[in-house]
Amino acid sequence: SSSATGPIKGATRDVIEKMQETGKDCVIFYASQTGTAEDYASRLAKEGHSRFGLNTMVADLEDYDYDTLDTFPSNKIAMFVLATYGEGEPTDNAVEFYEFITGEDVTFSDPDDSEAPLHNMKYVTFGLGNNTYEHYNAMVRRVDLALQKLGANRIGTAGEGDDGAGTMEEDFLAWKEPMWLALAEAMGLEEREAVYEPVFKVTEREDLTAEADNVYLGEPNKNHLEGLSKGPYNAHNPFIAPIAESRELFTAKDRNCLHMDIEISGSNLSYQTGDHLAVWPTNSGKEVNRFLEVLGLTSRSHTVIAVKSLDATAKVPFPTPTTYDAAASYYLEICGTVSRQFVASIAPFAPTDTAKAEMTKLGNDKDYFHERVAEKYLNIAQVLEKVEKSQKWTGIPFSIFIEGLHRIQPRYYSISSSSLVQKNKVSITAVVESSQISGSPEMLKGVTTNYLLALKQKQHGDPNPDPHGLSYAITGPRNKYDGIHVPVHIRHSNFKLPSDPSKPIVMIGPGTGVAPFRAFVQERAEQAKAGENVGKCVLFFGCRRKTEDFLYQNEWEEYKKALGDNFIFVTAFSRDGPEKVYVQHRLREHAQLIDALLQDRGYFYVCGDAAHMAREVNSTLAEIIAKQRNINEAQAEDIVKTMRARNRYQEDVWS
Ligand code: FAD
Ligand code: 2AM
Repeated sequence: SSSATGPIKGATRDVIEKMQETGKDCVIFYASQTGTAEDYASRLAKEGHSRFGLNTMVADLEDYDYDTLDTFPSNKIAMFVLATYGEGEPTDNAVEFYEFITGEDVTFSDPDDSEAPLHNMKYVTFGLGNNTYEHYNAMVRRVDLALQKLGANRIGTAGEGDDGAGTMEEDFLAWKEPMWLALAEAMGLEEREAVYEPVFKVTEREDLTAEADNVYLGEPNKNHLEGLSKGPYNAHNPFIAPIAESRELFTAKDRNCLHMDIEISGSNLSYQTGDHLAVWPTNSGKEVNRFLEVLGLTSRSHTVIAVKSLDATAKVPFPTPTTYDAAASYYLEICGTVSRQFVASIAPFAPTDTAKAEMTKLGNDKDYFHERVAEKYLNIAQVLEKVEKSQKWTGIPFSIFIEGLHRIQPRYYSISSSSLVQKNKVSITAVVESSQISGSPEMLKGVTTNYLLALKQKQHGDPNPDPHGLSYAITGPRNKYDGIHVPVHIRHSNFKLPSDPSKPIVMIGPGTGVAPFRAFVQERAEQAKAGENVGKCVLFFGCRRKTEDFLYQNEWEEYKKALGDNFIFVTAFSRDGPEKVYVQHRLREHAQLIDALLQDRGYFYVCGDAAHMAREVNSTLAEIIAKQRNINEAQAEDIVKTMRARNRYQEDVWS
């Protein structure tokens, strides 16, 4: 058996050596936070091989050193698929690479004075960004510039995908076609008829049953399989945490928002106010069944499968042996919206000629695909069902799903408790994703938040749980984890209170954006109780209606008791009156106070929706500063930029 994640122990960190050893002529590095960049890298690797006969390998930037890149052979190619995270930062796995390559004096293993160090290297770049953030695609832009400065030669254009505009997939597809042609030209490659060559071999193990001790039924790794949940707990190894408390925060009947307290004592996990909790989800039974059913695997759902890599550089993305059911429930992101390229790759395996033609059309016709699939957020099984339901898709090799679907990703939640107040218990505030997509008969159900809702219902013995028939598996594999548990780890963030509690803070947090500010205010209230000199705390909270989704309504009064006049709580109820009232409107009403606090060493924080709210708050603040200080808008915008650069304007936003 093998464990899926993390670098292979004892493996070389010299990528050129690795390429020589394994006979590769193309390496695709990825910087990935949520798995999309990693997925694109794998897709490039597969396509390079099947279409052009390139021997490709995918490489996690974290698994290699870079000081030998100056020996990169001129007949090989390096690709960089780089996501930008948050405020123009590299992803966690790319921090070291980024610092190295953009460093002031980069030193390579073989200093060669006569020529630029990377003059032999040919490379390709694609960036994944989001235009709703200030530093759009900063990572790929900076790395591309750095590589050029070091003498490397880029093939094709530096591609950029925009998640903010919702065009990431199409941006990627539009970029890669001309890139392949330019690459084929530069490297003298011949295009061939693409054939599917599996990277992983899936074998049904009739000698093993699902009850066997060495079969993974959702456990993230060997320790978990053996019933020992051993630290350190991190992005490769979650802690199976007890849920101490769960409750509903909304009074509205048709929407849910969960407050959960998650116990981390005994785990050695620690957090600081402002950090994030990563929650590892389980797919709903409903979606697992749909997936297995359409593939004709229902009767074999508990058959044990072993997955082996046929390529020394490709890691099996989950522990094995396992079962079809466990792979679909715990390891593969089967609910994600499906990509056009993936649909195209399945077309040859369709059960009928009509289905094959339809899949090919979906794969080739961007508008058709958009209208029939993308717009309705269909997952892979829903697409297969829609194209051909009466016959099972038994011809698709299961390896295609292991190669083509993401492995299930943890979701992040802004911790809504203060580490000063509850060191061993992490609170989160999660709104349950459930929406009706127009033209689709089914509700779109967020994977993680509906799983959390199911855990809460189980914990409370809810009389009418699961009205949508999602049927989540609650107790976890083999019921090893008694009670109500959830796999988690902590992600440290830069979203932090000023270290000096006397500094004023202004917080903007509509909806679940209030989560980290509950923590901030809780912390300041605690400090005030301890007799510390605490500065003004101004919180702008917005929701739809006072009587429906007012989060933590009763708690604010408690904090007010501790903080007195130092706590100012401003609400914006958007649907209670004839016109929409948003936090930025309230901000404008308090222009004088806000400006005075910011001039008096104040810090400004925004949390919640990245797409609209955070941008509008940013421009509202610039407007306020311009008016109050009698300067023009451009000057005010510069002031806001400087505040950001000095960490006096911090954002914790998501879209
Ligand atoms: P998923 O199964 O991941 O489904 C959501 C996806 O489905 C969307 O990405 C979108 O592609 C699609 N989708 C769903 N509904 C629609 C729709 N109506 N229209 C279009 N597309 C749709 N959330 C909180 O509730 N509280 C927090 O404190 C919080 N903090 C966060 C902090 C950070 C740093 C980040 C990155 C995110 C945070 N989130 C928070 C969001 C959270 O991580 C999840 O994205 C969210 O809970 C949905 O997860 P899910 O698994 O339920 O949904
Ligand atoms: P609405 O849904 O009534 O438009 C939390 O989601 C709160 O944020 C809701 O009151 C919501 O209002 C509001 N909201 C929606 N869009 C916003 C925006 N662009 N700026 C600020 N608040 C917004």
